[in-house]
Amino acid sequence: MDQFKDEGWNIMSKKIAIIGAGGMASYHIAGFRAAGAEVIAIVDKNAEAAKKAAQKFCVEKTYSSSRQMYETARGLDAVSVITPNASHFPLVMEALSYGKHVFCEKPPALNAAQAQAMAGKAAASRRTLMFDFNNRARPEAYAMMEYINKGSVGRINSAQASWIRRAGIPGFGGWFTNKKLSGGGPVIDLLHMIDLALYFMDYPQPKFVLAQTFSDFIADKAFKGPWGIPDVRKGVTDVEAAAHGFVTFKDGRTLSIRNSWAEMNKREEVSVVFQGSKAGGMVRRLFGIDGIDSTSIDTCELYVQENGRSVNRTIIVEPDETMGRTRAAKNFALSLAGEEPPLNTPDEAVKLMKIIDAIYASAKSGKPVEIK
Ligand SMILES: NC(=O)c1ccc[n+]([C@@H]2O[C@H](COP(=O)([O-])OP(=O)(O)OC[C@H]3O[C@@H](n4cnc5c(N)ncnc54)[C@H](O)[C@@H]3O)[C@@H](O)[C@H]2O)c1
Repeated sequence: MDQFKDEGWNIMSKKIAIIGAGGMASYHIAGFRAAGAEVIAIVDKNAEAAKKAAQKFCVEKTYSSSRQMYETARGLDAVSVITPNASHFPLVMEALSYGKHVFCEKPPALNAAQAQAMAGKAAASRRTLMFDFNNRARPEAYAMMEYINKGSVGRINSAQASWIRRAGIPGFGGWFTNKKLSGGGPVIDLLHMIDLALYFMDYPQPKFVLAQTFSDFIADKAFKGPWGIPDVRKGVTDVEAAAHGFVTFKDGRTLSIRNSWAEMNKREEVSVVFQGSKAGGMVRRLFGIDGIDSTSIDTCELYVQENGRSVNRTIIVEPDETMGRTRAAKNFALSLAGEEPPLNTPDEAVKLMKIIDAIYASAKSGKPVEIK
């Protein structure tokens, strides 16, 4: 597999290890190598999975425990945490204790308290901690941020964030549907558009959240997605199937949220739509018949008033079928080398997790939840 061989290796390149040899590892490895970093080891508590991935991606060393790796691997600069959600917190804290920089898959943690502790430890140990909000690294998001940063959009007053699936439950009874292991259902799993909307809005301070969750169809096999993990018989299923929410910010702006794995929607849609003081805009993917295929439709547009007319501007970008996953990993490695600013910060992750906690708290209480 030549495309996975290390490229651009040099004596100064950063050395990174992968923790978790699941499906996302390939994007992280490709991104790190594209930045000239070296992937020196793969850790998976399933030793066979680690060996198989190491062979596939031409990585020299494997370990079945992260601690064993930290004690023996030499010259390691950073790790990528690509394991189920509940293990993000302990694995990130462990990596920071060993003085390593960390790129962690989303969600940052199970809740805001964990995210806050991770952010505090990264700051105290002066290590980079970034999360895989890969949708920020999509060509559409890079293009839209350029317009926003150059002032073409003005102040974004309101935004709508949606990741809505019709039949996309990622397996029944496994870690995804077990709140203790996942932190929740589509709200936390598909948090990307909430993050992207907040990123476009320059992460304002949230004030109130009012939300409701629904669990219709969560155990209905007709709503299983074409991807995910194997079903676990007699496993736990205690997460939502869909959620709708509304966030107000201290500066008076607003964000509407729709997330679902299973809901009577026409088509899977992943979008941020916003209304600014100079222009509105949309970044959207309508998924194809089989996920990311040739029938999917991408849109990146701005809406303006010009010469007394309503004008729609289409921003044309190159397609990226990885949805920014490879580019996000490349950004982490480049930011370690001081060659690019990091695409996200731990403080943003804490704010995002506070909104997610508040969505669940509001759904439980039936009341708006204030974020202090
Ligand atoms: N950014 C994205 O687009 C995207 C897409 C899919 C999944 N994810 C995230 O990636 C993470 C992993 O998801 P997945 O679908 O690859 O899961 P998975 O269950 O397919 O694979 C996870 C791997 O981690 C290993 N593992 C578990 N605990 C471990 C530990 N303590 N130490 C070492 N290895 C351990 C498992 O043995 C398994 O091989 C999740 O947090 C998920 O939310 C992100």
